[in-house]
This record gives sequence, structure tokens and C-alpha cells, in this order.
Amino acid sequence: MSRLTDLIAQAKAKDSKLGADLDREFKVLSSRLPFGLNFERHSPEAVELPLRPIRKGDKVRVLPERGSAKKGDQRLWQVKAIHKAKKLADLELLGAAVAETKSVALEDLVVVAEFRDTIYPGLVSTGKVERGGDKPYHTVINGENYHVLKALTYTYRGKVDAIYIDPPYNTGAKDWKYNNDYVEGDDLYRHSKWLAMMERRLLVAKELLNPADSVLIVTIDEKEYLRLGLLLEQSFPEARIQMISAVINPAGVTRPGAFARTDEYIFFVFMGKASAKPVPLGDDWRINPEDKRTTKILWSMLVRTGTNARRVDRPKLFYPIFITTDGSAMHSVGEPPALGIDRQTIEAPTGTIAVWPIRSDGSEGNWQASPPSLWKAYEAGFVRLGKFTEKGMSISYLKAGEQKKVRDGVYRTIGKRPDGSVVVENPETQKRVIPNTAWRVGAHDASRHGSNLLKALIPERKFPFPKSLYAVEDCLRFFVIDKPEALILDFFSGSGTTAHAVMRLNRQDSGRRQCISVTNNEVAADELKALREQGMRPGDADWEKHGICDYITKPRVAAAITGKTLDGEPIKGEYKFTDEFPMADGFEENAEFFTLTYEAKDAVNHNLAYARIASLLWLRAGARGKRIDKLPVDGWAVADTYGLLTEVDKATPFIKAVNKAKALRVAYIVTDDDRRFQAIAKRLPDGVEPVRLYESYLTNFSFANGE
Ligand SMILES: C[S@@+](CC[C@H](N)C(=O)[O-])C[C@H]1O[C@@H](n2cnc3c(N)ncnc32)[C@H](O)[C@@H]1O
Repeated sequence: MSRLTDLIAQAKAKDSKLGADLDREFKVLSSRLPFGLNFERHSPEAVELPLRPIRKGDKVRVLPERGSAKKGDQRLWQVKAIHKAKKLADLELLGAAVAETKSVALEDLVVVAEFRDTIYPGLVSTGKVERGGDKPYHTVINGENYHVLKALTYTYRGKVDAIYIDPPYNTGAKDWKYNNDYVEGDDLYRHSKWLAMMERRLLVAKELLNPADSVLIVTIDEKEYLRLGLLLEQSFPEARIQMISAVINPAGVTRPGAFARTDEYIFFVFMGKASAKPVPLGDDWRINPEDKRTTKILWSMLVRTGTNARRVDRPKLFYPIFITTDGSAMHSVGEPPALGIDRQTIEAPTGTIAVWPIRSDGSEGNWQASPPSLWKAYEAGFVRLGKFTEKGMSISYLKAGEQKKVRDGVYRTIGKRPDGSVVVENPETQKRVIPNTAWRVGAHDASRHGSNLLKALIPERKFPFPKSLYAVEDCLRFFVIDKPEALILDFFSGSGTTAHAVMRLNRQDSGRRQCISVTNNEVAADELKALREQGMRPGDADWEKHGICDYITKPRVAAAITGKTLDGEPIKGEYKFTDEFPMADGFEENAEFFTLTYEAKDAVNHNLAYARIASLLWLRAGARGKRIDKLPVDGWAVADTYGLLTEVDKATPFIKAVNKAKALRVAYIVTDDDRRFQAIAKRLPDGVEPVRLYESYLTNFSFANGE
């Protein structure tokens, strides 16, 4: 390596920039782990923002001519001046050894955000559907997910209960773009580009998950599952990770000379104390339909049978259990007498009868549990007393595995017997199970319950490979069944299956779970070609309306809620499995649609700047009830879940109003003066979180690079 250091020093002497670049790459290389995942990070990642107006100082690309199928000039330029009247911009080439400038029509430019640039995100509402009364709103955000995730670190840091993502699988068949370019099968860097893209997003997503108890669920197939597994281990070293194999295409995709593919994989990353909860599952979840092991709770005889079952084999497990004379309760357990001591000589406490482990042939035996663990089991309701007979009493108990199933809710306790033992729900009507790692469930068929279901909701609009609605519902159910207010995020939401699944879960237990769906407005590869040929370009209204978010995600979520197709027709068909009802019934839920915007840091118009962050404040306070959309003229305003104080000398009437509002949880206080903020924060009632905002609104939400 010293030879390399030498060479780098020589390069530095000749060309300092080249030397510094080489040095940096060398350091990255030498800091890599000897094992695990080594990949090129491909910095910086960049994204084109066709909807963003061009401003002085922006980085831009020059678009290819309309109608052209060419990739166009990929170089980055900086806008030096804008001539509004002439609709022109003066550009200077970035990073060029020899300066190059030119003037280009504004309409031929597109802004480019590199991921190391600081951004000032905003949200603009583009519509809503309301059928859910005061329930929180599901949100669908149209945007580059890396930037949306960054913005969500303000609203949901550490608050998300479950993330479900189905990222592009990197099939090589134009299923995703890196830096505005499809990653194709022959791209030598296709795995590292995919890993770099995933790693950046997973690391921000991690900041959103509740570290104490949450789950990340990622689906993947044969193309990237090995690399994804390593990436997850590397990115979530503190978590437990499991991989499920799930059949999603029972017919199978033929692989010549190899096995037809029927399944894909689902990684579950358990954060903190997160665990899969037992849930009621149908018989198709059993690999072996004959397997009835989980359907009945198993009480075992306390007296040991078989081998090692004589007193002499385990003398410490030969001890008296003192039962009250009416046979209704265990009074206490005695000490095991030494071998050779006659059990008849041990006296039972008054009012009790000693029961000893006596075998069926009348000889002395032993119990299956030690005195302390038996007593513990008794106290927990895991010991059942039989009737007195001349041999004593037959006592049964739950072994450790069965005890755990009761504790975990596999068998739900519905009462206690007079002896204190638990009564569990009839196993025939209620089978709560944590399944094994191989899922072969008809409901998870992506074509029948993904593509076909989507066709019923938004006829005529095609989306490639949506998940089965019921597969997503099932994945989430294990983690949110006991969290009726869970916050769920999908930042590769595609057609919006996750939001739909969350609505179904809510209907099943009157939950108020909330789903945030993020997806970009990419146009599908075949559509893109057709639109280009028609002379259209990204940013044109006719192009953007064909983007996934506007064309598929938002209409699908709206249709699911209203129960009507885009033409206002009732949706045909029925929901199946766990909760069967006509799709035309829709859901009593609310949803609001947003587009991510990129604001200029120096926005001088406070009203406009505030309007762009208004939704972020509302989201942070729970995304329900009214929103404060404009700066209040009185210097303060109070909505259902939050208040906003913009003039600190109006603190007194503001705090009075905050005290009156019952569901209020956040008070935003706008001041650049820390002491004044602290003084007002102290006066707020308990349970109201004070949050400080800077007077230049956009700086509250500036997100520096993550590269
Ligand atoms: C495989 S699909 C998800 C399908 C979804 N699970 C369903 O059931 O419909 C992945 C989606 O992520 C979106 N996507 C890919 N890269 C993205 C990015 N950087 N930002 C936002 N969305 C992205 C794509 O538009 C695509 O619709």
C-alpha cells in the first residue's frame, strides 16, 4: 500500500484535484470491511426535477429536442442569469477544466438535485378524499423518496411502527433508473448502483423507525436477495433479521433447464422488542394440512411417565404438593425428603392433604417440575387440579412451550377455573398462530389479488407487478394487530397496495392506523417511448399526468375509499379472505394527496414559505383535523391537534386557547430568540409538546446532504 500512497503523492504534486480525488477513493477502499458487502457508492446520486421552476444558481441539464429518443446532454450546468422577458438562461458548465458558457431557452432546461445538495422541501396538497370523520389522514406523497424521507425525519423521527417496501428488484429489464438512466442487465455496475440507491434510503428510513419497537419489511426476489440480506445486516446491526419465502406466483415462471420460480422473499427486520404476534390464520397457512399441533392447548400430566420416572431417578422431584382439603386450591409445595425417608412421616399443614407423585403401578415416582417452577406455574394459572382419588390427585400443567403460547396470545385467555387455571378460547373457532418461514398461501397470488384487483379499481390503467392486497395485509398484521394507531410507511408504494391494506386492517378492528405512501411520478418504460415520440417531455402536463403517482397511486387509493371507479361506477367484485365485503362499500377513511416541492432558500415571502411547510406541521401533529394553511393575522392560531404562535407577544391569548383545545398535542412557537421560546414553552399545559420554528420558515426544514 505504501507504493500506492507514493503514487498518490506524485499525482497530487502534478494535479492537486486528481490527487485529492485519488486519495479520497483510496481511503474509502482501505476502510472497507474484509468481509461483507463491498460496493461502489456511486456518489453523488442525482435526480431531475421537471416541475421545479428554474432559478438563478440552480444546477440544470439541457433537455434533448422534443420528439428525440436521444439521451441528451448529461453534463451539469449552473444558471448564472435569467432573462425573463426573453425566456432564456445564461449557463456555465460545471466542473469543466475549460470554462464553457451558453444561453438556453428556459423551457429546454430541467433542474437537477444532487443528493449532497441541501434541499428545502415543501408539500403542496393536490386533493383529498374524506369519509373517515376525525380519523387521521393517510397521505400519498408524489416525490423522489430520498428527499421525502429526509423531509419525514422532521415529522416522524422515531415514530414509525412499520415500514413495508417493495423496491425495484433490479431485474435488468428497465425496472428502475439511477441518475435518470435505466439500469439494464448489461450494466457492469448494476448491483452496486442498486445497493448504493437502497443503502441511502434505508439509512434515512432507519431514523424514522421507532428504535424500541418497530419492523422493516422488504420484499425482494432471486436477483438481489443475497446482496439485500447483507445490506440489511450491515445497516441494522442491532436488529434481528428473518427471511421468509412466499409463493406469489403458484403457476411458476419457467426457467429453462432450471426450477420454475413461484416464490419471492420477504425480509423482516425486527427493531428493539418488536415481535411477530400470533394472529388468526386460515388452514392454507399450514404446510401440512394434517398438522393440528397449534389448534389445541396441551395440558400434560404432572407426574412423569416413561424413563427416569422413579423416585430414585430424580429424588429432588419427589416432593409433596399440599392441596386444600376441599380440593379447590394448591396451598403450598413441600421440600423433597431425602431418599429413604418414608413419605408418610411428612406432615401436611392443617387443612391440607399431601399429594405425592405416585405412578400408575402404585410405586413412588417424580414430578415433571421442580418445587419453585411448579409454584410459579400455579400462580400464573398453568396448573390444573383433578379430583381426589385413593392414589391422591391427578394434576396437569402446561409445559414451558404451551405457557409461552398463552403468554403470547396464541391461545387467548377468556377466564379462570375455580382452581385458578386458565381457560382459553375454543381452539376450533380461534386459531392464533405465528406461521413458519415458508408461506404458500393462495391469498398472496400477485396476479389474482394484485393485478386483477387493481384492474377492478382503476380499469384501463396498467401497473406492472402490484403486490397481492392480502399479502401486504398479512405481512403487516403480525406487527400491528395490537397497535390500532400504528403509523405505517411505504416509500416505494407503486400502486398504493400498502395504504389499501392498512385500510382493510383498520376495518377489521376499528383501528385508526395511518399509512404514508411515497412514490415518484415516473412514467413506465413503454409509455415513456410513446410519449417521447409524441414530442412530449417530463414536466409537460400531459407527460406528468401519466406518471405513476398521478395516474395510478392517487386514483387507486381514492377508488378504494369511495368504492367507485374514476367514472363514478361502483367497483365490481368482493374483498376476500379475512374480511369479505363488496368493494363498492369502500372504506370509512380519509386520505390526502401531496406533491413534494423544492423551495428556494431565500424565500422572502413569508406567507408563501409558510404555506409550503404548513402540511409538514400538520403531519407532525398527527395528520388529523383542521390545518393552519396561512400565517394567522392575529399572530396565533389553534387547530384541532396543534397550535401556531407567530408573534411571541401574543403568547397569553395563545396559551389560553391551547388550554381549551382538548386534542392539542403540539405547539409551534415561531421565534429566533431561544430564551423567549423557553419562557413560553414553560407555560404550556402538560402533554403539549413545544416545538420551535425559525422565523425564516424554510430553514426549519432544510436537509443537508446524506452522502
Ligand atoms: C416495485 S414497485 C412497488 C409496487 C407496490 N408494492 C404495489 O403493490 O403496487 C416500486 C415503485 O417504486 C417507485 N420508485 C422507484 N424509485 C423511486 C424513487 N427513487 N423515489 C420514489 N419512488 C420510486 C417506482 O415508481 C415504482 O412504482
